[in-house]
Amino acid sequence: MQENIHPIFKNLLSRCDKEKHLHQRAIALWLTGLSCSGKSTIAQHLERLLYTKGFFSQVLDGDNLRTGICKNLGFSIYDRIENIRRVAEVSKLFLNSGIITINTFISPTYQIRSLAKDIIGSDDFVEIYINAPLDVCEKRDVKGLYDKARNGLISGFTGIDQTYEVPLMPDIEIRTDELNVEESVDCIYNHILPKITIIN
Ligand code: ADX
Repeated sequence: MQENIHPIFKNLLSRCDKEKHLHQRAIALWLTGLSCSGKSTIAQHLERLLYTKGFFSQVLDGDNLRTGICKNLGFSIYDRIENIRRVAEVSKLFLNSGIITINTFISPTYQIRSLAKDIIGSDDFVEIYINAPLDVCEKRDVKGLYDKARNGLISGFTGIDQTYEVPLMPDIEIRTDELNVEESVDCIYNHILPKITIIN
């Protein structure tokens, strides 16, 4: 099938042209962590902070993308791998347009996160572990899913009957049971500022 495909990548404006236009360098922030650890909340606040500072970003969120491009996927390990493969490819398209992406996916295993990193490219990939202990996430239970999982109404729920492999060497770790949202966002912003700034 591939033999009849003729990509035109080299004829298009380059990522560098687009980054100059946007006065920023694009990177992918990959927020991994348990459900209710705070990934989506931090992403929303970070997007706004970046906006006020003149940076252009796009949030790619698990629950959102599962209503569209990934809506035919469930939560088996195979579907989770395919979910992350697709969203990492989407993230890369944004990067090639010069746009910073804020990706919030549980991405529960080393294999899944390393797939995302391989697709996006290690130079552009910042792994951020949004860390809150399981009992804290379970107490928050904003969507009521832990309760359902504990009562056997959902199976294969991350942290309950499917494992979450804790990142061993994340670029940034945020303890959301210790920091508030503003502190968490500031910590990420300060870390990434040198990476997204273009010096003229
Ligand atoms: S991932 O594992 O493939 O990275 P993703 O981040 O896209 O997951 O989706 C996680 C969201 O799906 C959770 O925030 C939760 O709202 C919902 N969800 C529904 N079923 C499950 C499940 N079995 N395990 C984890 N999350 C689930």
